[in-house]
Amino acid sequence: MSLRVAVTGPTGEIGISTISALEAHPAVAEIIGMARRPFDTSEHGWTKTTYRQGDILDRDAVEALVADTDVVVHLAFIIMGSREESARVNLEGTRNVFEAAVAGPRVRRLVYTSSVAAYGYHSDNPVPITEDVPPRGSPEHYYSEQKAACEALLADVTAGSALEVYVLRPCIVAGPKATALADAMPWNQLPGPVRRLAHALPLLKPPFPDPGTPVQLVHHDDVASAIVAAVTTTSAQPGAYNIAGDGVLSMSAVGEALGARPVRVPHGAATATSEVIARLPFVPSILEWLHAGRTSVVMDTTKARDQLGWRPNFSAAETLSALASSIGND
Ligand SMILES: NC(=O)c1ccc[n+]([C@@H]2O[C@H](COP(=O)([O-])OP(=O)(O)OC[C@H]3O[C@@H](n4cnc5c(N)ncnc54)[C@H](OP(=O)(O)O)[C@@H]3O)[C@@H](O)[C@H]2O)c1
Repeated sequence: MSLRVAVTGPTGEIGISTISALEAHPAVAEIIGMARRPFDTSEHGWTKTTYRQGDILDRDAVEALVADTDVVVHLAFIIMGSREESARVNLEGTRNVFEAAVAGPRVRRLVYTSSVAAYGYHSDNPVPITEDVPPRGSPEHYYSEQKAACEALLADVTAGSALEVYVLRPCIVAGPKATALADAMPWNQLPGPVRRLAHALPLLKPPFPDPGTPVQLVHHDDVASAIVAAVTTTSAQPGAYNIAGDGVLSMSAVGEALGARPVRVPHGAATATSEVIARLPFVPSILEWLHAGRTSVVMDTTKARDQLGWRPNFSAAETLSALASSIGND
């Protein structure tokens, strides 16, 4: 194999680790990455990768990216944004990528990172959830709704084509090079000295509600190895694969590791808050993330292990501790 791989979103938290892992794989000959910001590949010591600035909303740019490549890896997405902006990039831009992959004369495989959020936060989700459960999304959470919509779009756009489609559904990704989870905590935006003082004095730590919902985490390098497995596999069938590190964590453990003071709250209170938010008009998109803490969506990763041969190197607890160390909370 001597693969040419196109990657959208190579500059993101998963993208950097993915390109590094693709660079290290002998079957990958060349990688072409595209995102909007200026980016210097030489800073990462990459030798197989070329980078071009481009927007997935620009259909011509997407077609040029995938022309003459064997595999397309679609990572570009707006995770934290307004409902409107994210919908535009995530739905219209993703359609451009899916359609260009189908039309690309040389493209034979598409690897798309969906998310655990595609399943939606439903009280009747089986625990753990397997890939046999259809992704229903949750309309009250823009990201979940868009992830489910993208999977439906993918099925629609690729129906009847010969494209091999691999959909990965990671849980929350974290680690020293994926700090978005920590960055989302408002107190981590405080200047270093204030943050360190609060860390030293427990009563100054911000409270962090724990409604008893278990949390899965996966290390960015383990997501990257799953993507490389999907790009290069010659035995695993196309389809969806759940991706999560071993074990589950409490919200309290996550809050504590990220510098907060965990407070147990009744599960009913979290559900009630979430339901009130769902009914309010004009809710800021950021608040929609509260729905994610309402219902446990714990994934079964047996399929990725058995079929893709994927083995995470980091458990959920090790991933959290690597993240905490990287932000100075160890
Ligand atoms: N991080 C997680 O916890 C997690 C969990 C499950 C699934 N996922 C999924 O994994 C994928 C990658 O996530 P990530 O964590 O790497 O996200 P990220 O850190 O936010 O990176 C997003 C990437 O998309 C690019 N991008 C955004 N809009 C673009 C546009 N219009 N045109 C071209 N590129 C664009 C960004 O680069 P520019 O800003 O330079 O354009 C960046 O490279 C996403 O589909 C995400 O939903 C992530």
